[in-house]
Amino acid sequence: MTYKINSLEEYHQVYKQSVEKPEEFWKEQAETFEWIQPFSKVLNWDFEKPEVKWFEDGVLNITQNCLDRHVLTQGDQTAILWEPNDPNQKAQHYSYTQLLEAVCQCANGLKDRGIKKGDRVILYMPMVPALAVAVLACARIGAIHSVVFAGFSAQALCDRVDDAQASMIICSDVNHRGAKVIAVKEVVDRAMDLGCNSVETVLVYKNSTQEVNWSDDVDVWWHDIVEGQSKTCTAEPMNAEDMLFILYTSGSTGKPKGVVHTCGGYMVYTCYSFKNVFQYRPGDVYWCTADIGWITGHSYILYGPLLAGATTMMFEGVPSFPDAGRFWAICEKHKVNQFYTAPTAIRALMANGDAWPAKYDLSNLKVLGSVGEPINAEAWHWYDKHVGKGQAPIVDTWWQTETGGILISPLPGITDTKPTFASYPMPGVQAVLVDSDGNELTENNVEGLLCIKYPWPSMIRTTYGDHERCRNVYFSVFKGKYFTGDGARRDEDGRIRVIGRVDDVINVSGHRMGTAEVENAINEHPNVIESAVVGYPHAIKGQGIYAYIISAGMSLNEAFKKEIISTVVREIGPIAKPDKIQFVEGLPKTRSGKIMRRILRKIAAGDGENLGDISTLLNPEVVQSVKEGALV
Ligand code: WTA
Repeated sequence: MTYKINSLEEYHQVYKQSVEKPEEFWKEQAETFEWIQPFSKVLNWDFEKPEVKWFEDGVLNITQNCLDRHVLTQGDQTAILWEPNDPNQKAQHYSYTQLLEAVCQCANGLKDRGIKKGDRVILYMPMVPALAVAVLACARIGAIHSVVFAGFSAQALCDRVDDAQASMIICSDVNHRGAKVIAVKEVVDRAMDLGCNSVETVLVYKNSTQEVNWSDDVDVWWHDIVEGQSKTCTAEPMNAEDMLFILYTSGSTGKPKGVVHTCGGYMVYTCYSFKNVFQYRPGDVYWCTADIGWITGHSYILYGPLLAGATTMMFEGVPSFPDAGRFWAICEKHKVNQFYTAPTAIRALMANGDAWPAKYDLSNLKVLGSVGEPINAEAWHWYDKHVGKGQAPIVDTWWQTETGGILISPLPGITDTKPTFASYPMPGVQAVLVDSDGNELTENNVEGLLCIKYPWPSMIRTTYGDHERCRNVYFSVFKGKYFTGDGARRDEDGRIRVIGRVDDVINVSGHRMGTAEVENAINEHPNVIESAVVGYPHAIKGQGIYAYIISAGMSLNEAFKKEIISTVVREIGPIAKPDKIQFVEGLPKTRSGKIMRRILRKIAAGDGENLGDISTLLNPEVVQSVKEGALV
């Protein structure tokens, strides 16, 4: 199912076949998996509705393909290699057999608490093996998991629980991150006070010796219901189009939406892309530094690597603890072969100097990955030179929560790499650029809006509970195409460089954030009349958050700024903290009352002298004072 491509020429050939006969192409990939009942139909689609069904009469369970299948042939091989936050604590190895047994025990525990196929379960946990076990246990019994990044606030957690109408939350007592201990159960308790009426059980994994508040009505210890369970659990037969998980992500308007992925297509695509993009070989140790709270962790810490029978590492900590050499120390210690991280981490480590990677033996690295935001040329070259020593091709992988898997990326050692270019679409992915009227730009050397014009197996099926939103956001902007929200350039040879979002989504340290979401949080402060949030270039984070705020008679001092920041932390979490806050008397608006973000973005970027024509604004006079007060 993989490694059929050995050169750029072969890539072009395979790509051509995949476009000419897509159903044949994907059928061949899908047949390499274990199906409880094989599929007879490959694809049924209509982007207008949208409705996309892959392998629709097939029946499977993804955990059988992640675990049972490998237990038969390589049961003793390490499936998950866990590196704890504390470097003095021992790493742990979970073999495929041990992982399957742990997943079955947890699955049986969930069943005892009444969780069944179709129920939603929220996970709010640190990067410990129990998180992987819980995710897979849900999939084992057909419960729909929704992992919420454990940095989100009680309010944000509650919003997601309520939207998903989840019947269970699985959390830990505390999380360890660097030198910090985070009282996770307390956050869950607060979320329960705010809402979460659908929740019947809070399942708590003990991760410390600390005492926690306990409510006998809902709280249950993991060890009380999981340990002692049978180590076998029949995998629930799932239709290929049954939901596997919901993952909340930000859009340009409103609250985060629940992106829905289904069992069959997601399985086929994450495995296929993992094998090809990372060129994993038996015996390799693969490490993706993402958190399982994001799509990268779902597809490329858990599902993709486990489906491929790989050894995948899970790291509990942060790159800066105990010092800026931690990533490289881990690469040396575990002889990591494929390393996958985000540009923001690379830039932060680069800022600490070349001596850190130089201290460690990084000679096992064969492939370096980048994901989540555009990688700038300087970071690309540093990564190549100081981490890969010029020997490990960089795969700049472009994709989204909605795409489920990597859609554009070099194939290491096969297609070439070019700094800042995600390069060629994967075989089977019909990526196109269009102009603002939706006309396809077929020439090379053009810039346009990135769309995908044909289904791929792991694409978004709906936004949970609101199909119309899915249609509006992704499928109605350009008729007959999936619109990514990104702008891109194609070079003279057909390589694609993704420039960034063209909508009101900003990308802060690789975390996706809707400007409207941050504004709504700021507006919760009783002394804020109106706010506007834009991204601005930030040396480490890629983009920083710049907030313009109209206040209601508060003195405009640091104390007020602090209050605004804590309001945002309360509503969303620390990842959404504004980096800069400017108090303004007015916001530039169009005659129809829409905030002119283009102008605010330029001012925030220090480009206030180049605003173009502002005479059509409703209130052109405010622009001068906004410019004068700019924090640049
Ligand atoms: C951006 C993360 C440039 C892009 C997997 C996309 C990138 C958004 C790249 C999705 C890349 C991701 N080059 N930009 N290699 N990878 N992006 O849903 O703007 O958290 O739309 O998924 O990140 O973010 P998400």
